[in-house]
Amino acid sequence: MTYSRITGTGSYLPEKLLTNKDLEKIVDTTDTWIRERTGIKERHIAADTETTSDLAFHASRKAIEMAGISSSEIDMVILATTTADKIFPGTACLLQKQLDVHGCPAFDVQAVCTGFVYALSIADKFIRAGETRRVLVVGSETLSRILDWNDRSTCVLFGDGAGAVVLEADSEPGIMSTHLHADGSYEDLLHVPHGISIGYEQLKAGEAYVYMEGNAVFKMAVNKLGQLVDEALTANGISKSDIDWLVPHQANSRIIEATARKLRMSMERVIVTVAEHGNTSAASIPLALDIAVRDGRIKRGETLMLEAFGSGFTWGSVLLKF
Ligand code: ACO
Repeated sequence: MTYSRITGTGSYLPEKLLTNKDLEKIVDTTDTWIRERTGIKERHIAADTETTSDLAFHASRKAIEMAGISSSEIDMVILATTTADKIFPGTACLLQKQLDVHGCPAFDVQAVCTGFVYALSIADKFIRAGETRRVLVVGSETLSRILDWNDRSTCVLFGDGAGAVVLEADSEPGIMSTHLHADGSYEDLLHVPHGISIGYEQLKAGEAYVYMEGNAVFKMAVNKLGQLVDEALTANGISKSDIDWLVPHQANSRIIEATARKLRMSMERVIVTVAEHGNTSAASIPLALDIAVRDGRIKRGETLMLEAFGSGFTWGSVLLKF
């Protein structure tokens, strides 16, 4: 039996830092409001010349280095993003070019904040089916480009960044289960209302921004994130105490704390990095994972539950032995 296992992690945050204090000068907000309602202290913003594929490249190089392989050994590139470099080609192809990898499949996954979980699940299936052996799975975002910097209810929440993992075939798990969900009927609660085939004029005018009904999203997120844990535990016949670390989507520390409370999980077993980078959408889980691996909290052999919720709505989980 072939399983898939994470052999390397990497992440990258752009150099430019935007603190809550900096935001006080841009919109009518305060450091206290942002910290109390979201847990966010600062976020990183890509330079004007820096692209989603650039961020992805830096994170990927670190993951490849940790895996102890060379880029040429990668046989699939899957990149989750909601902020593609270009309308086409896919950002995964642009990343592949930067990595000097040629010929293997490379494609984007668009499931907004759940994108990385979707991408990891797809990579796992390809490896289990015996079609690929080493997949580079990346989440990368330049969300600062689609924020309305006059809207205090959204611009304080998001940031730019990237995270990556190398997933390799192994005789031992690895990924134990993945569960993916979506319900498009919630489209209007969290979206960018303009794009190529709807509102192209606004897109061209640079007015395509994130719109969110924060309260409704908050309630739904806590509900679905709690259900995801129960679903994965039941599918694997294990209990909450078997999970060493919960690595949730980093949107808001209050959502993460409410989810942990609902699951009666101690916050000591939850990875929270949102304070340092805000909500980086598809990049948030691999970013948090890499930070916790490199600072020594997450160790080989431990059981991790990755879970995400985002626009669509989409939600999903990955249970794995690291
Ligand atoms: N600074 C100061 N005041 C603010 C700010 C701000 N930045 N933003 C909003 N306010 C005000 C509002 O205008 C409102 O004022 P009012 O009472 O006078 O009308 C008051 O603060 C309370 O606003 P609420 O929206 O009720 O605040 P809430 O406690 O719900 O927090 C928040 C808002 C942080 C957005 C929360 O709803 C939230 O986190 N929602 C979920 C976001 C999320 O997790 N998204 C995940 C997916 S993201 C993706 O998929 C791309």
